[in-house]
Amino acid sequence: MAKGRTTAFFCKECGYESAKWTGQCPACREWNTMVEEPVAKKASDRRSVIPERGRQKIQPVRLSEVSIEEQDRISTGYQELDRVLGSGIVAGSLVLVGGDPGIGKSTLLLQVCRNLAAEGHKVLYISGEESLKQIKLRANRIGRITGELLFLCETSLDDIQEAIQETKPEIVIIDSIQTMYREDVSSAPGSVSQVRESTNILLQIAKGMGISVFIVGHVTKEGVVAGPRVLEHMVDTVLYFEGERNASYRILRGVKNRFGSTNEIGVFEMQEQGLEEVENPSEYLLSGRPEEASGAAVACSLEGTRPILLEVQALVAQTNFGMARRTAAGTDYNRVNLLMAVLEKRCHYEMSRYDAYVNIAGGVRMNEPALDLAIVLALVSSLKDRPVNPKCIIFGEVGLSGEVRAVSMAEQRVREAIKLGFESCILPQVCLEKMKKVEGIDLHGVRNVREAIGWI
Ligand code: TYD
Ligand code: MG
Repeated sequence: MAKGRTTAFFCKECGYESAKWTGQCPACREWNTMVEEPVAKKASDRRSVIPERGRQKIQPVRLSEVSIEEQDRISTGYQELDRVLGSGIVAGSLVLVGGDPGIGKSTLLLQVCRNLAAEGHKVLYISGEESLKQIKLRANRIGRITGELLFLCETSLDDIQEAIQETKPEIVIIDSIQTMYREDVSSAPGSVSQVRESTNILLQIAKGMGISVFIVGHVTKEGVVAGPRVLEHMVDTVLYFEGERNASYRILRGVKNRFGSTNEIGVFEMQEQGLEEVENPSEYLLSGRPEEASGAAVACSLEGTRPILLEVQALVAQTNFGMARRTAAGTDYNRVNLLMAVLEKRCHYEMSRYDAYVNIAGGVRMNEPALDLAIVLALVSSLKDRPVNPKCIIFGEVGLSGEVRAVSMAEQRVREAIKLGFESCILPQVCLEKMKKVEGIDLHGVRNVREAIGWI
Protein backbone atom coordinates (compact mmCIF):
# COMPACT_ATOMS: atom_id res chain seq x y z
CA MET A 1 0.00 0.00 0.00
CA ALA A 2 1.27 3.48 -0.84
CA LYS A 3 2.94 5.36 1.96
CA GLY A 4 0.81 7.89 3.76
CA ARG A 5 -2.52 6.37 2.66
CA THR A 6 -5.08 6.82 5.39
CA THR A 7 -7.92 4.69 4.12
CA ALA A 8 -8.20 1.33 2.46
CA PHE A 9 -10.99 -0.98 1.34
CA PHE A 10 -11.92 -3.95 3.48
CA CYS A 11 -14.20 -6.86 2.75
CA LYS A 12 -16.97 -7.04 5.36
CA GLU A 13 -17.21 -10.78 4.93
CA CYS A 14 -13.64 -11.98 5.20
CA GLY A 15 -11.61 -8.90 6.11
CA TYR A 16 -9.55 -8.86 2.89
CA GLU A 17 -7.73 -5.54 2.52
CA SER A 18 -7.18 -3.81 -0.77
CA ALA A 19 -5.98 -0.36 -1.85
CA LYS A 20 -8.62 -0.15 -4.57
CA TRP A 21 -12.35 -0.71 -4.55
CA THR A 22 -13.55 -3.84 -6.31
CA GLY A 23 -17.06 -5.05 -6.94
CA GLN A 24 -16.21 -8.60 -5.96
CA CYS A 25 -13.87 -9.51 -3.13
CA PRO A 26 -10.86 -11.31 -4.64
CA ALA A 27 -10.51 -13.49 -1.54
CA CYS A 28 -14.01 -14.74 -0.70
CA ARG A 29 -15.73 -13.95 -4.03
CA GLU A 30 -18.63 -12.16 -2.37
CA TRP A 31 -20.13 -9.22 -4.27
CA ASN A 32 -20.50 -5.71 -2.92
CA THR A 33 -18.73 -6.29 0.33
CA MET A 34 -15.82 -3.85 0.03
CA VAL A 35 -16.12 -0.80 2.28
CA GLU A 36 -13.73 2.09 2.74
CA GLU A 37 -12.26 2.46 6.20
CA PRO A 38 -9.37 4.27 7.82
CA VAL A 39 -6.26 2.13 8.02
CA ALA A 40 -5.32 0.88 11.47
CA LYS A 41 -2.24 2.41 12.96
CA LYS A 42 1.09 0.67 12.64
CA ALA A 43 1.85 -1.93 15.25
CA SER A 44 4.73 0.12 16.67
CA ASP A 45 2.33 2.92 17.61
CA ARG A 46 0.25 0.69 19.78
CA ARG A 47 0.93 0.43 23.43
CA SER A 48 1.39 -3.05 24.76
CA VAL A 49 -1.76 -4.25 26.41
CA ILE A 50 -0.11 -6.51 28.94
CA PRO A 51 2.83 -4.50 30.28
CA GLU A 52 4.42 -7.43 32.13
CA ARG A 53 4.54 -9.34 28.91
CA GLY A 54 6.37 -6.56 27.13
CA ARG A 55 9.21 -6.69 29.63
CA GLN A 56 9.72 -10.43 29.42
CA LYS A 57 12.90 -11.55 27.73
CA ILE A 58 12.02 -13.29 24.53
CA GLN A 59 13.86 -16.55 24.00
CA PRO A 60 13.14 -19.59 21.89
CA VAL A 61 12.82 -22.84 23.86
CA ARG A 62 13.12 -26.53 23.07
CA LEU A 63 9.80 -28.27 22.72
CA SER A 64 11.00 -31.01 25.07
CA GLU A 65 11.43 -28.39 27.80
CA VAL A 66 7.87 -27.25 27.58
CA SER A 67 5.95 -28.81 30.41
CA ILE A 68 2.32 -29.61 29.82
CA GLU A 69 0.24 -29.23 32.88
CA GLU A 70 -2.86 -31.29 32.87
CA GLN A 71 -5.11 -29.07 30.76
CA ASP A 72 -7.85 -28.51 33.21
CA ARG A 73 -11.03 -27.85 31.44
CA ILE A 74 -13.96 -26.14 33.02
CA SER A 75 -17.34 -27.70 32.38
CA THR A 76 -20.01 -25.31 31.16
CA GLY A 77 -22.72 -27.33 32.84
CA TYR A 78 -24.08 -28.34 29.44
CA GLN A 79 -22.90 -31.60 27.94
CA GLU A 80 -23.99 -30.45 24.51
CA LEU A 81 -21.76 -27.38 24.70
CA ASP A 82 -18.86 -29.17 26.37
CA ARG A 83 -18.72 -31.67 23.53
CA VAL A 84 -18.60 -28.96 20.89
CA LEU A 85 -15.83 -27.18 22.80
CA GLY A 86 -13.89 -30.47 23.09
CA SER A 87 -14.89 -31.44 26.67
CA GLY A 88 -15.10 -28.06 28.33
CA ILE A 89 -13.55 -24.60 28.36
CA VAL A 90 -9.76 -24.37 28.14
CA ALA A 91 -8.17 -21.64 30.27
CA GLY A 92 -6.90 -18.79 28.14
CA SER A 93 -8.90 -19.73 25.09
CA LEU A 94 -10.73 -17.34 22.80
CA VAL A 95 -14.07 -18.65 21.59
CA LEU A 96 -16.22 -17.01 18.95
CA VAL A 97 -19.95 -17.68 19.08
CA GLY A 98 -21.51 -16.55 15.81
CA GLY A 99 -25.10 -16.59 14.67
CA ASP A 100 -28.01 -14.61 13.32
CA PRO A 101 -29.43 -11.88 15.56
CA GLY A 102 -32.11 -13.24 17.87
CA ILE A 103 -31.08 -16.86 17.61
CA GLY A 104 -30.21 -17.09 21.32
CA LYS A 105 -26.50 -16.38 21.67
CA SER A 106 -26.92 -14.05 24.64
CA THR A 107 -29.34 -16.48 26.26
CA LEU A 108 -26.97 -19.42 25.86
CA LEU A 109 -24.00 -17.52 27.25
CA LEU A 110 -25.98 -16.11 30.15
CA GLN A 111 -27.07 -19.63 31.07
CA VAL A 112 -23.48 -20.81 30.83
CA CYS A 113 -22.44 -17.93 33.10
CA ARG A 114 -25.10 -18.93 35.59
CA ASN A 115 -23.81 -22.51 35.64
CA LEU A 116 -20.20 -21.40 35.98
CA ALA A 117 -20.97 -18.94 38.77
CA ALA A 118 -22.93 -21.62 40.63
CA GLU A 119 -19.84 -23.84 40.46
CA GLY A 120 -17.78 -21.10 42.12
CA HIS A 121 -16.08 -19.58 39.09
CA LYS A 122 -15.72 -15.85 38.74
CA VAL A 123 -17.41 -14.65 35.58
CA LEU A 124 -17.64 -11.21 33.99
CA TYR A 125 -20.39 -10.63 31.43
CA ILE A 126 -19.84 -7.52 29.34
CA SER A 127 -22.73 -6.34 27.23
CA GLY A 128 -22.50 -3.59 24.69
CA GLU A 129 -26.00 -4.17 23.41
CA GLU A 130 -28.31 -4.34 26.36
CA SER A 131 -28.81 -2.39 29.54
CA LEU A 132 -28.49 -4.01 32.95
CA LYS A 133 -32.28 -3.94 33.21
CA GLN A 134 -32.70 -5.91 30.01
CA ILE A 135 -30.15 -8.46 31.18
CA LYS A 136 -31.96 -8.73 34.49
CA LEU A 137 -35.22 -9.43 32.66
CA ARG A 138 -33.60 -12.22 30.71
CA ALA A 139 -31.92 -13.57 33.83
CA ASN A 140 -35.32 -13.72 35.54
CA ARG A 141 -36.57 -15.97 32.77
CA ILE A 142 -33.72 -18.44 32.98
CA GLY A 143 -33.75 -18.85 36.73
CA ARG A 144 -31.88 -17.88 39.86
CA ILE A 145 -28.34 -16.62 39.60
CA THR A 146 -25.96 -17.30 42.45
CA GLY A 147 -22.24 -16.84 43.00
CA GLU A 148 -19.87 -14.34 41.51
CA LEU A 149 -21.38 -13.30 38.24
CA LEU A 150 -20.51 -9.68 37.47
CA PHE A 151 -22.10 -7.56 34.78
CA LEU A 152 -20.79 -4.56 32.95
CA CYS A 153 -22.46 -2.49 30.25
CA GLU A 154 -19.61 -0.99 28.30
CA THR A 155 -18.36 -0.67 24.76
CA SER A 156 -14.96 0.94 25.17
CA LEU A 157 -12.33 -1.75 25.15
CA ASP A 158 -9.86 0.40 27.05
CA ASP A 159 -12.31 0.59 29.96
CA ILE A 160 -13.17 -3.06 29.62
CA GLN A 161 -9.54 -3.97 29.79
CA GLU A 162 -9.13 -2.01 32.98
CA ALA A 163 -12.20 -3.66 34.48
CA ILE A 164 -10.83 -7.09 33.61
CA GLN A 165 -7.46 -6.31 35.12
CA GLU A 166 -9.15 -5.10 38.28
CA THR A 167 -11.69 -7.87 38.77
CA LYS A 168 -9.52 -10.74 37.46
CA PRO A 169 -12.33 -13.06 36.37
CA GLU A 170 -11.74 -16.58 35.06
CA ILE A 171 -14.20 -16.22 32.22
CA VAL A 172 -15.24 -13.14 30.26
CA ILE A 173 -18.15 -12.80 27.83
CA ILE A 174 -18.11 -10.03 25.23
CA ASP A 175 -21.60 -9.46 23.81
CA SER A 176 -21.07 -8.50 21.00
CA ILE A 177 -17.77 -7.76 19.27
CA GLN A 178 -19.52 -5.51 16.75
CA THR A 179 -20.41 -3.00 19.44
CA MET A 180 -16.89 -2.74 20.88
CA TYR A 181 -14.46 -0.02 19.92
CA ARG A 182 -10.94 1.16 20.61
CA GLU A 183 -10.29 4.83 20.87
CA ASP A 184 -7.06 4.71 18.91
CA VAL A 185 -8.74 3.18 15.86
CA SER A 186 -10.58 5.92 14.03
CA SER A 187 -13.29 3.90 12.24
CA ALA A 188 -16.77 3.26 13.64
CA PRO A 189 -17.66 0.29 15.89
CA GLY A 190 -18.56 -2.72 13.79
CA SER A 191 -16.17 -1.84 10.99
CA VAL A 192 -13.63 -4.38 9.86
CA SER A 193 -10.66 -2.64 11.46
CA GLN A 194 -12.46 -2.03 14.78
CA VAL A 195 -13.61 -5.63 14.98
CA ARG A 196 -10.13 -6.86 14.18
CA GLU A 197 -8.29 -4.56 16.55
CA SER A 198 -10.77 -5.23 19.35
CA THR A 199 -10.31 -8.96 18.92
CA ASN A 200 -6.58 -8.43 19.02
CA ILE A 201 -6.81 -6.90 22.48
CA LEU A 202 -9.10 -9.66 23.67
CA LEU A 203 -6.61 -12.17 22.32
CA GLN A 204 -3.84 -10.59 24.36
CA ILE A 205 -6.04 -10.55 27.45
CA ALA A 206 -6.91 -14.23 26.97
CA LYS A 207 -3.39 -15.43 26.31
CA GLY A 208 -1.58 -13.02 28.63
CA MET A 209 -3.80 -13.41 31.66
CA GLY A 210 -5.09 -16.94 31.09
CA ILE A 211 -8.70 -15.80 30.97
CA SER A 212 -11.15 -17.64 28.74
CA VAL A 213 -12.99 -15.15 26.56
CA PHE A 214 -16.23 -15.82 24.69
CA ILE A 215 -16.93 -13.37 21.90
CA VAL A 216 -20.41 -13.01 20.41
CA GLY A 217 -20.47 -12.11 16.73
CA HIS A 218 -23.60 -11.41 14.70
CA VAL A 219 -23.83 -12.86 11.25
CA THR A 220 -25.00 -10.04 9.02
CA LYS A 221 -25.98 -10.24 5.42
CA GLU A 222 -26.44 -6.55 4.78
CA GLY A 223 -25.38 -3.35 6.41
CA VAL A 224 -21.97 -2.06 7.28
CA VAL A 225 -21.26 -4.38 10.17
CA ALA A 226 -18.35 -6.74 9.69
CA GLY A 227 -19.24 -10.39 9.95
CA PRO A 228 -17.68 -12.91 12.35
CA ARG A 229 -15.67 -14.46 9.53
CA VAL A 230 -13.31 -11.50 9.77
CA LEU A 231 -12.03 -12.84 13.07
CA GLU A 232 -12.32 -16.58 12.52
CA HIS A 233 -8.58 -16.98 12.02
CA MET A 234 -7.68 -15.08 15.19
CA VAL A 235 -9.65 -17.14 17.68
CA ASP A 236 -9.08 -20.67 18.97
CA THR A 237 -12.59 -21.95 18.55
CA VAL A 238 -15.43 -20.92 16.26
CA LEU A 239 -18.96 -22.01 17.07
CA TYR A 240 -22.02 -21.14 15.04
CA PHE A 241 -25.45 -21.12 16.59
CA GLU A 242 -28.05 -21.86 13.96
CA GLY A 243 -31.66 -22.83 13.58
CA GLU A 244 -34.86 -21.91 11.84
CA ARG A 245 -36.56 -18.81 13.10
CA ASN A 246 -39.87 -20.60 13.46
CA ALA A 247 -38.56 -23.88 14.86
CA SER A 248 -37.69 -24.04 18.52
CA TYR A 249 -34.53 -26.10 18.44
CA ARG A 250 -31.10 -24.62 17.88
CA ILE A 251 -27.91 -26.28 16.69
CA LEU A 252 -24.51 -25.24 17.93
CA ARG A 253 -21.93 -26.24 15.37
CA GLY A 254 -18.16 -26.25 15.88
CA VAL A 255 -16.40 -25.15 12.68
CA LYS A 256 -12.92 -24.60 14.08
CA ASN A 257 -11.40 -25.89 17.28
CA ARG A 258 -7.78 -25.86 18.35
CA PHE A 259 -8.65 -27.99 21.38
CA GLY A 260 -10.90 -30.65 19.97
CA SER A 261 -12.52 -32.07 16.90
CA THR A 262 -14.64 -29.92 14.63
CA ASN A 263 -18.01 -30.69 13.08
CA GLU A 264 -19.37 -31.60 16.46
CA ILE A 265 -22.85 -30.35 17.10
CA GLY A 266 -24.83 -29.61 20.21
CA VAL A 267 -28.60 -29.45 20.09
CA PHE A 268 -30.71 -27.14 22.22
CA GLU A 269 -34.33 -26.21 22.36
CA MET A 270 -35.54 -22.68 23.03
CA GLN A 271 -38.25 -22.67 25.63
CA GLU A 272 -40.01 -20.16 27.84
CA GLN A 273 -37.31 -20.50 30.48
CA GLY A 274 -34.36 -20.29 28.16
CA LEU A 275 -32.46 -22.99 26.30
CA GLU A 276 -32.81 -26.64 27.19
CA GLU A 277 -30.38 -29.35 26.09
CA VAL A 278 -31.65 -32.01 23.70
CA GLU A 279 -29.67 -35.08 24.60
CA ASN A 280 -31.14 -37.39 22.03
CA PRO A 281 -31.60 -35.37 18.84
CA SER A 282 -32.50 -38.42 16.73
CA GLU A 283 -35.54 -39.13 18.84
CA TYR A 284 -36.43 -35.47 18.68
CA LEU A 285 -36.07 -35.21 14.90
CA LEU A 286 -38.06 -38.36 14.24
CA SER A 287 -40.92 -37.55 16.57
CA GLY A 288 -44.30 -37.08 14.92
CA ARG A 289 -43.31 -38.98 11.80
CA PRO A 290 -46.15 -40.38 9.70
CA GLU A 291 -45.25 -44.04 9.39
CA GLU A 292 -47.13 -45.23 6.35
CA ALA A 293 -46.61 -42.28 4.03
CA SER A 294 -44.79 -42.68 0.76
CA GLY A 295 -41.83 -40.47 0.01
CA ALA A 296 -40.25 -40.61 3.44
CA ALA A 297 -37.03 -42.39 4.36
CA VAL A 298 -35.00 -42.33 7.54
CA ALA A 299 -31.32 -41.58 7.02
CA CYS A 300 -28.36 -41.53 9.33
CA SER A 301 -25.97 -38.62 9.15
CA LEU A 302 -22.79 -38.29 11.14
CA GLU A 303 -22.14 -34.97 12.81
CA GLY A 304 -18.62 -34.98 14.19
CA THR A 305 -18.57 -38.19 16.16
CA ARG A 306 -22.28 -38.43 16.72
CA PRO A 307 -24.70 -40.28 14.43
CA ILE A 308 -28.02 -38.52 14.02
CA LEU A 309 -31.10 -40.07 12.50
CA LEU A 310 -33.36 -37.86 10.46
CA GLU A 311 -36.22 -38.12 8.05
CA VAL A 312 -35.76 -37.29 4.38
CA GLN A 313 -39.02 -36.40 2.65
CA ALA A 314 -39.62 -36.22 -1.06
CA LEU A 315 -42.64 -35.29 -3.08
CA VAL A 316 -42.59 -36.15 -6.77
CA ALA A 317 -45.49 -34.84 -8.82
CA GLN A 318 -46.17 -34.59 -12.53
CA THR A 319 -45.01 -31.36 -14.12
CA ASN A 320 -47.95 -29.43 -15.48
CA PHE A 321 -46.19 -27.32 -18.02
CA GLY A 322 -42.73 -26.37 -19.11
CA MET A 323 -39.69 -27.02 -16.99
CA ALA A 324 -39.81 -29.34 -14.03
CA ARG A 325 -39.50 -27.59 -10.67
CA ARG A 326 -37.05 -28.81 -8.07
CA THR A 327 -36.47 -27.57 -4.55
CA ALA A 328 -34.31 -28.81 -1.73
CA ALA A 329 -34.78 -27.64 1.85
CA GLY A 330 -32.18 -28.61 4.41
CA THR A 331 -29.84 -30.19 1.92
CA ASP A 332 -27.84 -29.31 -1.18
CA TYR A 333 -29.99 -28.40 -4.18
CA ASN A 334 -27.36 -29.40 -6.73
CA ARG A 335 -26.89 -32.73 -5.04
CA VAL A 336 -30.61 -33.44 -5.36
CA ASN A 337 -30.49 -32.57 -9.06
CA LEU A 338 -27.53 -34.86 -9.53
CA LEU A 339 -29.27 -37.75 -7.78
CA MET A 340 -32.32 -37.26 -9.99
CA ALA A 341 -30.12 -37.37 -13.05
CA VAL A 342 -28.64 -40.64 -11.78
CA LEU A 343 -32.16 -42.05 -11.38
CA GLU A 344 -33.06 -40.95 -14.89
CA LYS A 345 -29.96 -42.26 -16.59
CA ARG A 346 -29.11 -45.38 -14.59
CA CYS A 347 -32.53 -46.59 -13.51
CA HIS A 348 -34.60 -45.23 -16.39
CA TYR A 349 -37.16 -43.30 -14.37
CA GLU A 350 -38.44 -40.36 -16.36
CA MET A 351 -37.64 -37.81 -13.70
CA SER A 352 -37.62 -34.89 -16.14
CA ARG A 353 -41.40 -35.20 -16.38
CA TYR A 354 -41.83 -34.66 -12.66
CA ASP A 355 -41.49 -31.82 -10.19
CA ALA A 356 -39.59 -32.85 -7.10
CA TYR A 357 -39.46 -31.32 -3.65
CA VAL A 358 -36.95 -32.68 -1.14
CA ASN A 359 -36.99 -31.70 2.49
CA ILE A 360 -35.12 -32.72 5.63
CA ALA A 361 -37.82 -32.84 8.28
CA GLY A 362 -37.41 -30.67 11.34
CA GLY A 363 -35.71 -27.85 9.48
CA VAL A 364 -32.15 -29.04 10.11
CA ARG A 365 -29.42 -28.63 7.50
CA MET A 366 -27.40 -31.73 6.68
CA ASN A 367 -25.08 -32.06 3.74
CA GLU A 368 -23.31 -35.34 4.31
CA PRO A 369 -23.02 -37.53 1.16
CA ALA A 370 -24.24 -40.45 3.29
CA LEU A 371 -27.74 -39.00 2.88
CA ASP A 372 -27.69 -39.66 -0.88
CA LEU A 373 -29.19 -43.11 -0.79
CA ALA A 374 -32.02 -42.05 1.48
CA ILE A 375 -32.83 -39.12 -0.83
CA VAL A 376 -32.88 -41.45 -3.83
CA LEU A 377 -35.14 -43.95 -2.10
CA ALA A 378 -37.47 -41.23 -0.84
CA LEU A 379 -37.79 -39.93 -4.41
CA VAL A 380 -38.53 -43.38 -5.82
CA SER A 381 -40.94 -44.13 -3.00
CA SER A 382 -42.89 -40.98 -3.76
CA LEU A 383 -42.79 -41.60 -7.51
CA LYS A 384 -44.17 -45.11 -7.14
CA ASP A 385 -46.39 -44.10 -4.22
CA ARG A 386 -45.04 -47.02 -2.24
CA PRO A 387 -43.98 -46.36 1.39
CA VAL A 388 -40.51 -47.33 2.58
CA ASN A 389 -40.56 -49.67 5.58
CA PRO A 390 -40.78 -47.22 8.50
CA LYS A 391 -38.52 -49.45 10.62
CA CYS A 392 -35.70 -49.27 8.08
CA ILE A 393 -32.81 -46.82 8.05
CA ILE A 394 -30.79 -46.00 4.97
CA PHE A 395 -27.35 -44.57 4.40
CA GLY A 396 -24.75 -44.60 1.62
CA GLU A 397 -23.15 -42.28 -0.89
CA VAL A 398 -24.37 -42.50 -4.49
CA GLY A 399 -21.85 -42.17 -7.30
CA LEU A 400 -22.49 -40.92 -10.82
CA SER A 401 -22.75 -44.39 -12.30
CA GLY A 402 -25.41 -45.29 -9.78
CA GLU A 403 -23.05 -47.24 -7.55
CA VAL A 404 -23.45 -47.09 -3.77
CA ARG A 405 -20.18 -46.14 -2.15
CA ALA A 406 -18.82 -46.64 1.34
CA VAL A 407 -19.34 -44.09 4.10
CA SER A 408 -17.33 -43.72 7.30
CA MET A 409 -18.26 -45.17 10.69
CA ALA A 410 -21.01 -47.45 9.42
CA GLU A 411 -21.07 -49.44 12.62
CA GLN A 412 -21.84 -46.41 14.81
CA ARG A 413 -24.70 -45.51 12.51
CA VAL A 414 -26.15 -48.98 12.72
CA ARG A 415 -25.84 -49.00 16.51
CA GLU A 416 -27.69 -45.70 16.78
CA ALA A 417 -30.47 -47.19 14.65
CA ILE A 418 -30.72 -50.25 16.90
CA LYS A 419 -30.88 -47.98 19.93
CA LEU A 420 -33.93 -46.26 18.47
CA GLY A 421 -35.70 -49.50 17.65
CA PHE A 422 -35.06 -49.83 13.91
CA GLU A 423 -35.31 -53.34 12.52
CA SER A 424 -33.54 -53.19 9.19
CA CYS A 425 -30.89 -51.16 7.46
CA ILE A 426 -29.93 -50.60 3.82
CA LEU A 427 -26.25 -49.80 3.62
CA PRO A 428 -23.35 -50.01 1.14
CA GLN A 429 -22.19 -53.59 0.55
CA VAL A 430 -18.56 -52.53 1.12
CA CYS A 431 -19.43 -51.25 4.59
CA LEU A 432 -21.29 -54.44 5.41
CA GLU A 433 -18.28 -56.57 4.47
CA LYS A 434 -15.96 -54.59 6.72
CA MET A 435 -18.31 -54.47 9.67
CA LYS A 436 -18.29 -56.71 12.70
CA LYS A 437 -21.42 -58.72 13.26
CA VAL A 438 -24.24 -56.80 14.89
CA GLU A 439 -27.24 -58.38 16.50
CA GLY A 440 -30.80 -57.14 16.50
CA ILE A 441 -31.07 -55.65 13.02
CA ASP A 442 -31.32 -57.00 9.45
CA LEU A 443 -28.57 -55.57 7.32
CA HIS A 444 -29.06 -55.35 3.57
CA GLY A 445 -25.85 -54.54 1.73
CA VAL A 446 -26.35 -52.94 -1.70
CA ARG A 447 -23.90 -52.29 -4.54
CA ASN A 448 -25.96 -49.91 -6.61
CA VAL A 449 -29.11 -47.84 -6.59
CA ARG A 450 -31.13 -50.49 -8.44
CA GLU A 451 -30.42 -53.08 -5.75
CA ALA A 452 -31.43 -50.59 -3.08
CA ILE A 453 -34.73 -49.84 -4.83
CA GLY A 454 -35.40 -53.59 -4.83
CA TRP A 455 -35.48 -53.51 -1.00
CA ILE A 456 -38.26 -50.99 -0.64
P1 TYD B 1 -31.11 -13.69 22.36
O1 TYD B 1 -30.29 -14.52 23.29
O2 TYD B 1 -31.38 -12.29 22.78
O3 TYD B 1 -30.50 -13.69 20.89
P2 TYD B 1 -29.12 -13.11 20.35
O4 TYD B 1 -28.29 -12.74 21.50
O5 TYD B 1 -28.55 -14.25 19.54
O6 TYD B 1 -29.46 -11.96 19.48
O7 TYD B 1 -32.45 -14.51 22.13
C1 TYD B 1 -33.56 -13.87 21.79
C2 TYD B 1 -34.69 -14.78 21.45
O8 TYD B 1 -34.88 -15.88 22.31
C3 TYD B 1 -35.91 -13.95 21.55
O9 TYD B 1 -36.59 -14.02 20.32
C4 TYD B 1 -36.69 -14.48 22.67
C5 TYD B 1 -36.21 -15.88 22.80
N1 TYD B 1 -36.23 -16.37 24.19
C6 TYD B 1 -37.11 -17.37 24.54
O10 TYD B 1 -37.88 -17.86 23.73
N2 TYD B 1 -37.09 -17.85 25.83
C7 TYD B 1 -36.25 -17.35 26.77
O11 TYD B 1 -36.28 -17.78 27.93
C8 TYD B 1 -35.36 -16.30 26.39
C9 TYD B 1 -34.42 -15.69 27.38
C10 TYD B 1 -35.38 -15.85 25.09
MG1 MG C 1 -27.74 -10.80 22.06
